[in-house]
Parts: sequence; C-alpha cells; structure tokens
Amino acid sequence: MIDTAKSMTVEKYKRFVSTGFLKKVQPIVIDRALGATVWDETGRPYVDLFSGISVVNAGHCRPEVIEAAAAQMRKLVHCNSYIYHNKPAADFAEALASIMPSPDLHVSFFGSSGAEAIEGAMRVAKQFTGRSEFVALEMSFHGRTAGTLSVTGNRNRKKKGGPYLPGVAFAPPPYAYRSPFSGDADSIGRQCAQAVERVIDTGTSGDVAAFIAEPVLGEGGIIVPPRGYFKQVKEVLDKRGILFICDEVQSGFGRTGTMLAIEHYGVVPDIVVTAKGIADGFPLSAFTTRKEIADAFAPGDHLSTFGGNPVSCAAALANLEVFRKERLADGSARKGSAALERLRGIAAKRASIGEVRGLGLMLGVELVSDREAKTPDAASAGKVQDRMLEMGYLVGVGGYHGNVLRLQPPLVIADEDLNRAIDALDEALDAV
Ligand SMILES: Cc1ncc(COP(=O)(O)O)c(C=O)c1O
Repeated sequence: MIDTAKSMTVEKYKRFVSTGFLKKVQPIVIDRALGATVWDETGRPYVDLFSGISVVNAGHCRPEVIEAAAAQMRKLVHCNSYIYHNKPAADFAEALASIMPSPDLHVSFFGSSGAEAIEGAMRVAKQFTGRSEFVALEMSFHGRTAGTLSVTGNRNRKKKGGPYLPGVAFAPPPYAYRSPFSGDADSIGRQCAQAVERVIDTGTSGDVAAFIAEPVLGEGGIIVPPRGYFKQVKEVLDKRGILFICDEVQSGFGRTGTMLAIEHYGVVPDIVVTAKGIADGFPLSAFTTRKEIADAFAPGDHLSTFGGNPVSCAAALANLEVFRKERLADGSARKGSAALERLRGIAAKRASIGEVRGLGLMLGVELVSDREAKTPDAASAGKVQDRMLEMGYLVGVGGYHGNVLRLQPPLVIADEDLNRAIDALDEALDAV
C-alpha cells in the first residue's frame, strides 16, 4: 500500500525545504510524540534515543510543560522581553540562576538558539575584558553562525563559509582515545591542559578574552574530558585573566547525570551557555554570568527580538520544576551508568567498536574498521542507524569522523525501553 500522506510530505520536503546541507533526512514523517516514544504518520511507534538532538530531556510533550506554555499563550505570546518586563522571563531568570555552579552566576541574557547565546557570550567576554581573541578546542562545535563557526574546530562544518573571525587559536581536544599525547587518560588530560597554555602563549597575541569549550564534546563524538582537565585549564586561564565560556548547550539540563556537565569537574566557569534542553522543546537559550560581566554591555550593545519569549520562559520554568520533582538528573546518572556497562560488555566482544564512552544519558559508541589502527568507520555507523530505524529506534550519528553512534534519549525513558534499545543495537551491529 502506498503511504500517500508520507509520500506527499517527503515530496514537499524535496521541493520546498532546504536540505542540501544534509546527506539525507531520516525517511520517516513524525506525527506525534510522548515521553520517549514518537509515532510516524502510519501510527508506527519508535523509541527515541536522540531527543531531537538532546532537546526533550524531560520527555516529548511533557504535560506540565505543555500546560504552562498553553496557559501563557492565552495571556501573552510576545512583547519583547528586553523592551518590557514580563513575569515568565523574570521568574525563569531567577530559576536558571539556582542551577548554576555558583550564586555569583546569576544574570542571564536570553536568546532563541544555542548559537545566539554563544554569540552573546563571546560578545560580552570581549566587552568585559577589552580583549578580542579566543582559544577553542579542535573537534568542538558551537553553532552555525559566522562567530560560532569561527570557534568551531571542525573543517567539515566550516568549509566554504569563511573567512572566519581572526584571532582564534585551537588547542588539542581532551580526547584520550585519539590523542597526540600518550599515557593514561589523566596524563593525557594534563598534557592537553598544558597545551592550552602553550596555544595561548604561542598561537595568540596574548589578547585573549575567553577560552570556550563544551564540558562534554557532543557533535565531536561524545568526548568526555578526563576528570582533572578543566581544573588544570582554569588555573591557566585565571593566571592570565582569561574568561571560561562553558558551552552547556548540549550537555546541560541533566543530560550527563548532573544539571550541568561542568559539575563533574568541580570548576566554576565565568559564563555558562544553555539551550536545547532548557525548555523541553520550546526555543530558548541563555548565557548566565556574573553581574559585573553582564554589566559590561552598554545601552545599544545587545538585544534579541524573540529572546526570553514569555511562552518559552513559562515552559522552561515548568520544565525545571519537573526536573526537581522527578530528580531527572539523578535518573540520567543511574540509567546512563547501567547502559554504559551494558554497552561496554557489547564492545568487549566486538572488534567493530573502538570505544564506548559517556556520562549519564550522553552516550557514544565509536565504530572502527580496524581496532588496532582505530580506523574510523562512518559507513557502518550510517548502516547501524538505518537498521535501528527499521527496528523502531531513533539514534543519532556524529563525531568528527562521522563514526560515533549517539544515544541521548529523553531522560524519562523507561529502563525496559533502554534495555530493549541496547539489545536492538547489539543485533544491528551484528547485521552490519
Ligand atoms: C555544544 C553546542 N553548542 C552550540 C550549538 C548550537 O545550538 P543551536 O543549533 O541551537 O544554534 C550546538 C548544537 O548542536 C551544540 O551542540
């Protein structure tokens, strides 16, 4: 039977939606979703292991979030949260401050996308320090605007988009599995932190405003830096008065088993950027910083039309309440470590898996065609993703080499669903 609705939607995508920048759009038409399940237009359910790129952490269409947004929509959808005061923006700014790693970080600027908030953070870092340069990490990803691509360490994302901002230098990523340095993970972390110092001293003019990094590199392939890394880097930065912009866009909101991933590292950044999971699917982003840094902006320096939209802020507030009530970050830690153990068991019996890694429910399975040589196997990652889809599971693929399967389900996923998904992954790896 020809699925007419699906073929019409796919046909319209082909004709009217810009998708030339994608290898392919996944061949399903999603109609509705709840919790960790999405349904296509034929009514077939899929277990969602990707959360719309790590967004719906509290689950799809979370009733409390939807209710809060709907109630707000009936009262006020937009007024511009910078020209006029509104209660949802004020309340959510206060709530967001409460999840920061220090009470000093309590002033937020709101945008609509991760990239917009990163751009704002870069701008305020320049204004505050009076300096213009940045140090970022190779294999990082910070967004698709000109400024955020300038600090993104991935040629595949940047090609034909230049010239980029001058004054950006890149340090090696704290990626123990693939590193120019040798030794155990802690030693590699130390050497990578020393490399940040070297890059500042040799690759910049010394006019560095900020070091920007993701506490867990998401698009780079779920790279989890060794535990001492950020403390060692922060010491280097503090000696030079360089700010640390922590990009929690993907790793934040319980994804790694703590509200913010930087909590694993015991470091207080100068600016924290959040988006994605912030409002369970409603568009919102923020950078949050100390008052004196935020106050470096002078009248006219910054604004956003949709940033801090009352509906998104009402949704975000309800989302945070759900996190607190259901201790979703703790659940992410528990489910993630059980899943990691099972995945490591699967990796032990399979030469096609180079490494399994992750924190909480931010999990990566790196596929290789030669375990000794660590040859990245992007083709197999694509095939496993396709096979998983056929079996009724949505997984992500990423990594600098395109060879990392990404498991980042809604944090509310049922243990049985997660276990069944790992069984399915085992089967899909066999089939490929
Ligand atoms: C770590 C990180 N920073 C920034 C961004 C950009 O966010 P957005 O796509 O909302 O602009 C992303 C998106 O994937 C991300 O993963």
